[in-house]
Formats: sequence, structure tokens, C-alpha cells
Amino acid sequence: MSRFLVPICSSSSAIMSSVLQKLISPLASSPAEPPRNKVTVVGVGQVGMACAVSILLRDLCDELALVDVMEDRLKGEMMDLQHGSLFLKTSKIVADKDYAVTANSRLVVVTAGVRQQEGESRLNLVQRNVNVFKSIIPQIIKYSPNCTMIVVSNPVDVLTYVTWKLSGLPKHRVIGSGTNLDSARFRYMMAERLGIHATSFNGWVLGEHGDTSVPVWSGANVAGVNLQKLNPEIGTDADKEQWKATHKAVVDSAYEVIRLKGYTNWAIGLSVADLTESIIKNMSRVHPVSTMVKDMYGIGEEVFLSLPCVLNNTGVSSVVNMTLTDAEVSQLKKSADTLWGIQKDLKDI
Ligand SMILES: NC(=O)c1ccc[n+]([C@@H]2O[C@H](COP(=O)([O-])OP(=O)(O)OC[C@H]3O[C@@H](n4cnc5c(N)ncnc54)[C@H](O)[C@@H]3O)[C@@H](O)[C@H]2O)c1
Repeated sequence: MSRFLVPICSSSSAIMSSVLQKLISPLASSPAEPPRNKVTVVGVGQVGMACAVSILLRDLCDELALVDVMEDRLKGEMMDLQHGSLFLKTSKIVADKDYAVTANSRLVVVTAGVRQQEGESRLNLVQRNVNVFKSIIPQIIKYSPNCTMIVVSNPVDVLTYVTWKLSGLPKHRVIGSGTNLDSARFRYMMAERLGIHATSFNGWVLGEHGDTSVPVWSGANVAGVNLQKLNPEIGTDADKEQWKATHKAVVDSAYEVIRLKGYTNWAIGLSVADLTESIIKNMSRVHPVSTMVKDMYGIGEEVFLSLPCVLNNTGVSSVVNMTLTDAEVSQLKKSADTLWGIQKDLKDI
């Protein structure tokens, strides 16, 4: 008789043995090993889920954990992703509002936060987000004391500083997504004007993420051909071709996308997955991300601003010293002063 066809009145041991026991014989006696490349995303809003999906589609982790305070939404997002497991190569997707679910994370992406209310000052928004981060960061460190963190929530440079302070992590392990997105937008828009692919236009946007970001016109090039040598006025008001307008379009584009669809998420999600790849795969690629810049370019305060950073499994392993013009350095210093002006008044960090 087939071993799968057991008579109803047969001996109890054969009936009790389950399909699982019959099908699979355990070999290892020790408990399962912890994950090696676990990534946690805190905040399952538009940005958090775009980050999660982008990371999953690039096969960057062996376990993905999600955390949020909205329990139903969190469970719904987890289940929806789990149902896509057939098409993914990440074997475990978990979620909980309890941070125990994040234990042993190698990388934690923080996208949680509150949005600006009508008439609310930037400082007030920052202080409210500091309070949100006080409920998140110590919990992350409790369960993953050796993780690297990427902060995405806005204002990203200030909140990266706040995360560094609250976490007690060394500065190379706390990274702000910074101008990685601004640079991606810049490269796309410049490349469109030149009729080439975004990867073939080399240009960097540094400094503060958003309105005061600094385009490094002195280094913009295609195939090593410096655009400033072709047009010495590029990026200035005197430039007849008005290339400066392309950087303005970069700054305005976030507002434009928010006006049109309510939020931005796909490009930031894709860009965070790119940073994740450099860290998880120890690639030492250079990205414009927010790092602690005290004592660089004459900046005297503990502020986080974007510079070209080498990312690998230590986090930010080093910073590339760019040959900036005096005007570019003074723009960076101005960003640093603005950020310090906000940070120095923050309470309880
Ligand atoms: N750095 C960038 O380039 C960039 C780009 C786009 C958006 N952002 C920022 O990303 C953040 C998220 O944007 P979004 O559109 O996803 O917002 P969202 O409102 O859709 O999602 C925010 C999520 O955070 C959660 N949250 C709030 N408090 C929490 C807490 N204490 N613990 C855990 N989760 C908590 C909310 O429940 C919500 O699900 C915003 O600050 C936004 O400005 C940054």
C-alpha cells in the first residue's frame, strides 16, 4: 500500500504523523542562523513602501522587516508583499509595531515622520519629528546595535544629525539620503537636454537636500569633457544658454510632483535601494549623501551635509575631497550655517 494511503482504523502513530513530518527530514540540530543581510524599513507610507519594493526587486536582503505605528496598514503592506514571494528572492518578510521584529538588522532605513501642517514653522516641524525619532532610534539600537542607518525623513540633514545624537552610533554609520535624489534628478534633466542617458552625464549636487542644494558646475562633464570649459559662464546668471534653470527645475521638481500626485516616492525609493546595494554588497561606490562635515571646507559645527561619500559595509568609509570653487565652498558654508541655526535650538537630543 502507498505510504500516503493510511486506513482510518490503522495504528495511531501513522495517523498522527503529519505531511510535513513525512515529507521533510530535519538534518541540522542547531537552531536557524540569524539573517546576514537583514534590512528594516521604519515607516510604511509612500516613501517607505517604495524603498521596500525597490530593495526587494534588487534582491538586496535575506530578510525584510517593516515597522509603523499604524497596525492595520502595516499588516496589510506585509501581507501584500508576502503574497508576491513567488516573484521575489527574499525569503522572509516580517512586520510589527514592536521593534523586536527588527533584531539583527544590518541596515535600517528610516522614513517615518510627520508632515508639515499649514502655517507651521520649519523649526516646529523639526521638533515634532525629533519627538517621533526619540520613540524610534533607541528601539532600533536596542535590537540592532551594530546596524548602519539611512535617514530619509525630512528635513533629512537635520534628522540625520538627530539620529546620530540619539543612536550613539559612530558618525560613519549614520547616513542621510541627502542630495542623492537631487543629483539623480539633475543628471536626468541635464542628460535630457543633451540627448544622452542619465548615467552618461556626470554631475553632482551637494550641500543641503532641497531648496539650497549646490550644483557643482565646475565638475559637470560628459565623457571627461568639462562643460565649464566649453561654456565658462555655465550655471551663472550671465549664461545665455540658461543652464542654471536646470538646477532650478531640480529644486522645483519635488514641489511639482507633490502638487500633481500628493507626494514623491518612486525616485527616492530607487535611489535608497542604490545606496543599500553599495552598503550591503561592500561596493565602495561614491554617492552624494549626508555625512558629518565638521572640519571640512572650513565648517566648524556638527552638521550633516551631502558630499561625495564612499559607501561600503562600514557605512561611509571616506569622503572625496572635491576641488570646489570659492563660490561653491561659500554656498556649502551658508547651508551649514542655516542648518546649525535650526539644530542649536532643538530640545531633548
Ligand atoms: N529625503 C528625501 O529625498 C525624501 C523624498 C521624499 C520624501 N521624503 C520624506 O520621507 C518622509 C515620509 O514621506 P511619506 O510620503 O512616506 O509620508 P507618509 O505620511 O505617507 O508616511 C509616513 C509614515 O510614518 C509613519 N509614522 C509616523 N510616526 C511614526 C512612528 N513614531 N513610528 C513609526 N512610524 C511612524 C506613519 O504612520 C506613516 O505610515 C517625509 O518626511 C518626507 O518628507 C524624503
